[in-house]
Amino acid sequence: MTRHSVDSDIRSWDARRNLAAFATHEEALQFSTRHWIWTVQQAIQQRGRCFVALSGGATPKAIYQRLAQSPYMDSVDWSKVFLCWSDERAVPPTHPDSNYRMAMEAGLNQLPIPPTHILRMEAESSIHEHAHAYEETLRALSAWPLDLVMLGVGEDGHTASLFPATSAIHEHTALVTANFVPMHHSWRMTLTFNAINMSRQAVIYAFGASKQAIVHEVLEVKGHHEKNYPAFDIGTISHKALWIIDWLFS
Ligand code: 6PG
Repeated sequence: MTRHSVDSDIRSWDARRNLAAFATHEEALQFSTRHWIWTVQQAIQQRGRCFVALSGGATPKAIYQRLAQSPYMDSVDWSKVFLCWSDERAVPPTHPDSNYRMAMEAGLNQLPIPPTHILRMEAESSIHEHAHAYEETLRALSAWPLDLVMLGVGEDGHTASLFPATSAIHEHTALVTANFVPMHHSWRMTLTFNAINMSRQAVIYAFGASKQAIVHEVLEVKGHHEKNYPAFDIGTISHKALWIIDWLFS
């Protein structure tokens, strides 16, 4: 896979964001998987290993399924890959809502990634302490800045577990935090804006008709956004975020 094979589908959207837009779901998914592999290969080539933050959501799940199949599963040195998470629900790893469980069962547990490289967010108990410990564990591994952060976007503009009008939006110091989400009546653990925006590459996968309205709202405003959608704040001039969508955005 060459840089050209992924770069030619990416266009600059504005100073903080790039966009890759495709006419069909299949094309967008294929590109997302190729881009994932390419980003991981580059990190391993340049730094000897790769830290990827995984997300929940339907599109990441489809990507994990593809990664566990040929030709993708044969194109990465999995012994150099470290998996961490962008966010996690306050449930044990066996729970159907667990983002860890979803990623593993979708196919990542079939890849030869050393078990010590799989860094689950423990959000089911002592969530504040575990959020702090997670940040420190990654610091001890010199994981910051992460190489790739996978993200989705909700119809309310949330990304990772940074929901509108929740405390994590105002966290400007920590890289990982606990966040109470009133709309779900539950706690989440999440990477903060700092962690996401310092990463080498943040990617927001927004697939399906239900995402079109929020993507238009978030991408069409280029300066300050009066509605404060968290997804709007992903991407900086020095670390442009990549949005991948499965419709043609003119
Ligand atoms: C989660 C997430 C969340 C998700 C969006 C989009 O744990 O649910 O990480 O931020 O990515 O809600 O999810 P969909 O793509 O499935 O709509």
